[in-house]
Amino acid sequence: MGSQWGYDKTYLRAKHEGYRSRAAYKLMEIQKKFEIIRSDDNIVDLGAAPGSWMQVLRSLTDGKVVGIDLNPIALLEGCESLVGDLNDPEIQQEAVSLLGVVNVVVCDAAPKLSGHKAYDQARIIELNEQALKFACNVLKTGGNFAVKSFQGTDFPEFYADVKTHFHSVKTMNTKSSRKGSTELYVIAKNFYG
Ligand SMILES: C[S@@+](CC[C@H](N)C(=O)[O-])C[C@H]1O[C@@H](n2cnc3c(N)ncnc32)[C@H](O)[C@@H]1O
Repeated sequence: MGSQWGYDKTYLRAKHEGYRSRAAYKLMEIQKKFEIIRSDDNIVDLGAAPGSWMQVLRSLTDGKVVGIDLNPIALLEGCESLVGDLNDPEIQQEAVSLLGVVNVVVCDAAPKLSGHKAYDQARIIELNEQALKFACNVLKTGGNFAVKSFQGTDFPEFYADVKTHFHSVKTMNTKSSRKGSTELYVIAKNFYG
């Protein structure tokens, strides 16, 4: 992270404050504005490696936190992690078995980028749709969902899809995102099925 983009202020701050990545501050901004996590929520974190969102989640809830990633996540006290694809029904089932009730699904997953803009955008939206499906499969009524996406041709359709499952859906750009990035987060609250 630091090596690809240079050791910017946020990267150095994360290192200093003991977070595994600068992404931690994005979740803090989301929580500050939308309060998606309540103090006893059970939470699934999709695309969770190296684990900075899990660190933040651990501090926000007394409930259970499960992270899922294609890559292993180094042990984090008070959290469980699963290695696998968020689209794999067995992984979804394992997460539910660990949590019982699922109140919140957050997703910061991102595919490896090829550099071909249209292709990458399509893959990101595909991953977003998979995360939405995951959330719809596991969330309790009234639950919340937050997912990283990118502005682009396929985004409005995904956004409309999210709206068919949640009472309140908004987008947010975080200050911690890199300058010039089209990254944004979709924040969906109050799942109704
Ligand atoms: C930007 S990183 C997440 C950073 C994380 N939120 C944190 O705070 O440490 C994106 C992650 O998404 C994961 N990922 C991409 N596709 C995935 C998939 N289909 N299933 C699970 N994880 C996936 C990648 O392996 C990568 O670790």
